[in-house]
Amino acid sequence: MEKLVIKGGTPLKGSVTVSGAKNAAVAILPAALLIDGVCTIDNLPNISDVKLYVKIIESLGAKIEWKNEHEIVLDTRHIECTDETLDLTRKFRASYYLLGSLLGRSKVAKVGSPGGCNLGSRPIDLHIKGFEALGATVDVSNGNITATRDKLVGNSIYLDFASVGATINIMLASVLAEGTTTIDNAAKEPHIVDVANFLNTMGADIRGAGTDIIKIHGVEKLTGNKSYSVVPDQIETGTFMLAAVATKGDITIKNCISKHLESVTAKLLEIGANVESSGDEIRVWCDKRTSKANIKTLPYPGFPTDLQPQMGVVLAISDGTSIINESIWESRFQYTNELNKMGAKITAQGKSAVFEGVETLYGAPVYSTDLRAGAALLIAGCAAQGTTEIYNIEHIDRGYEKIEEKFRQLGSNIQRVEE
Ligand code: EPU
Repeated sequence: MEKLVIKGGTPLKGSVTVSGAKNAAVAILPAALLIDGVCTIDNLPNISDVKLYVKIIESLGAKIEWKNEHEIVLDTRHIECTDETLDLTRKFRASYYLLGSLLGRSKVAKVGSPGGCNLGSRPIDLHIKGFEALGATVDVSNGNITATRDKLVGNSIYLDFASVGATINIMLASVLAEGTTTIDNAAKEPHIVDVANFLNTMGADIRGAGTDIIKIHGVEKLTGNKSYSVVPDQIETGTFMLAAVATKGDITIKNCISKHLESVTAKLLEIGANVESSGDEIRVWCDKRTSKANIKTLPYPGFPTDLQPQMGVVLAISDGTSIINESIWESRFQYTNELNKMGAKITAQGKSAVFEGVETLYGAPVYSTDLRAGAALLIAGCAAQGTTEIYNIEHIDRGYEKIEEKFRQLGSNIQRVEE
């Protein structure tokens, strides 16, 4: 087991390049199973979730050739659903996309009940309702989810909640279905647009991704024979923006899309930090103590839940009392216990937390409870006086590529060591 050891207290300065988006990559890889041909995917983040997904689709019959650490050529002409992948699929949440893609491609799709970060109850009832509306039968038993169908026929589907996963999964299942599927109250996150762009590049007919109504006109076949580059990671970009503010630093983030970070930019300006965007770069700097703010996480374009813990670090050391309301994941405040070990004064109850700003955080041994909690602790460790040791960093490696190298490049004194 490894841990990260950070000697904090130095403002992070310099430039850093963002990798491809994890949450787009883990949907595009299964989406490629809908192609009866060959395609190239570039700008894949080199993270453990992507490596696991590649392993799964390989066991389903895909032939993979790595061109370099970010680019693969996939031949998905011969794909078959097999029980051999069930244990692997249990390891992370995004394996639920195999249900949509395998169901679109063949008459049966089966995954182990998806695992992933423990963020509270994570049902997939909306995905299942969507598959059923298209004509599939779904059975949840013995720790597995099995979807079967004779044929899939387009339908109108209203999502009770703008779920990212359900929107993408229904899109996947309907690309090769007969007729037109409409998803109403669809989620609008950047990676939804990216998955639709990928599928359209490969021959699908999806319109409206990025709005709350998506229409999918079923096509006979996705032929592939094209290359696609994964969108830059919105959450990694935001993580570096918040690291710049928490450490009173000055970071230029390269290869990012500033439009995806408007809600974060607005909050950073409100609390007194500076943000400037130009082309595919965002510069964030801060030379004074930031002030309090209230945050409510919401589906895109609202403030992303996946940046809530990182923002929590900034508010923990801002002047005044701030409140965060988390509206997506009930257990997303686990990181506040760890920040309190570093001297923060946070009281979390249910889906809200009150942050009484302190002047300084102090290094301590802390435990990463999930991916974004880990990113928050990393930022806190860089901002704190003294040494922070972060344990359970496998959570961080699931979603951030070469994280300590990137932080080191910005001047952080950070080492990965064997426990
Ligand atoms: N929900 C249901 N029923 C469903 C689906 C969702 O009740 O069938 C509820 C969930 O319980 C939750 C809310 O709806 O309260 C949002 O869930 P959503 O489906 O939007 O989330 P997800 O698809 O499971 C993705 C990301 C998460 C990110 C959320 C919200 C992936 C692989 N995961 O999860 O990313 O927090 O959207 O933006 O794309 C992360 O990257 O750290 C992460 C957790």
